This record gives sequence, C-alpha cells and structure tokens, in this order.
Amino acid sequence: MTRQLIAGNWKMNGTLAAAEALARALLDAPRDGIGAELLVCPPFVHLQAVGRILNGSDVALGAQDCSVAAGGAHTGDVAAPMLPELGCTHIVLGHSERRQNHHELDETVREKVVAARAAGLVPIVCVGETEEQRAAGQQDDVVGWQLKGSLPNDFADGPGVVAYEPVWAIGTGRTATEDDVAAMHGFIRAELVRQFGDKGASVRILYGGSVNATNAAALLGVPEVGGALVGGASLKPQDFLSIARAAV
Ligand code: G3H
Repeated sequence: MTRQLIAGNWKMNGTLAAAEALARALLDAPRDGIGAELLVCPPFVHLQAVGRILNGSDVALGAQDCSVAAGGAHTGDVAAPMLPELGCTHIVLGHSERRQNHHELDETVREKVVAARAAGLVPIVCVGETEEQRAAGQQDDVVGWQLKGSLPNDFADGPGVVAYEPVWAIGTGRTATEDDVAAMHGFIRAELVRQFGDKGASVRILYGGSVNATNAAALLGVPEVGGALVGGASLKPQDFLSIARAAV
C-alpha cells in the first residue's frame, strides 16, 4: 500500500526567519512512528531558504502556484521551470483561495497542471464545494466538473494528486464528517477511473480542511484518503508531525 502524504500548505504566513525556524524544527524532530511522506509548501519568497535547509532530507518541498507560461513578460508571476532549481518537487494548484481570490477557472488550473508537469513537478490539484453548494446538494456536480475541467487528459499517466478540500472546512475548525469524506472520496475515485481508466485508480486523493492533531487519525482512516493537505496546523511543527504520526 502506498504511504500517505502529509502536505503542509504554509499559505502566505510568516517571516523568512519563521519559515527557516519551522523547517529546522521539522528537520530536527524525532521521526518515531512516522511512515508518511512529508511535504511543505512555503510562500514563493521563502522557498529557496527552506529548500536549502530541507535539501537531502525526508521533507519534500512544494510551491503553492505557478504561471501557465514557461517564462517571458509576465510581471509578478513565477514560472514552473523556476521551481525545481529551488528544490521543489510538488506544486499545489487550483486551491480554492486562488479560485476565489484570483478568479482562477478550471481551464486555467488545467493549463497550470500542464505547465507544472512539463517542469517535472507533481501537481496537487484542489477541488471542493462551497457551503452554499453543499447545502443545495450540488457537491458531486461541482467536484465532478472541477475534476473534468482541471485535469488534463494525461493526468493519470504521471504522478499526480487530487486534494478534496470542502471550502467551508478550510480554516474554520469545521471538518467534514467521516461519512461525508468517505462519500466524496469514493465519488472522486469513481470519477478518476471514469476519466482515466485503470490509471485513475492509483491517483492519490488527499483530504484538506481543518485537519489537526486531534482529528487526523479518524480522517486519515477513511477509505480512499491518501493523506492530508494541512493549512493552519502545518505552521506548528509538533502538530504537523502528530498528524503525520496518525497517517498510515
Ligand atoms: O491547503 C490547505 C487547506 O486550505 C486547509 O487549510 O488546514 O487551515 O483548514 P486549514
């Protein structure tokens, strides 16, 4: 069985010194009881420093976004090919905060997945419904359309990850119930197999949304949960590693 992936999305938090201290704390902490793969995704401007600290360690490095373009006149953007030389192996794409705050459409996310893949990065593609959509019983339709629109046809041909993050559970302290997670992860698995055939069966599906040291074991024990995408709790090294200890 594939090890679970515990990914920390540091979002737009902290100073350079805090990012370096967090990376060092993760590196120095004991690894007893941790079988999961570990990944952290600092802000762009902290990637190089954190990458130097984590270089050669068991904690992988990821970015939180990239441009659709491989380079050129795109002021303020970061091209995917710039990221591996900082040590990045993974990239979070289509996070709901980018879909909402930057009006990213599924088509844009798909173009970013293609750009990230071309640069050798493993894309972690986020999907998830809003509270209103769930209240209206539209979660399967919404997530189904996001999967169809955001994943290129060859997504399952290489390493790729889908993260289910119900928007209403992000940063709110409210997690989806185990039943809801089981239902949605089962739905996503079925969609991936429908879209990509047998190869869709091996795409890892993470859960994200207020995962913490207390609820991690239950959430990570749900069938078809291949790990967690952790926001707030990933900023506290002991909490992040406790979540990793709860992984299988
Ligand atoms: O990318 C991480 C998710 O948005 C979850 O964030 O753990 O703070 O709810 P959270």
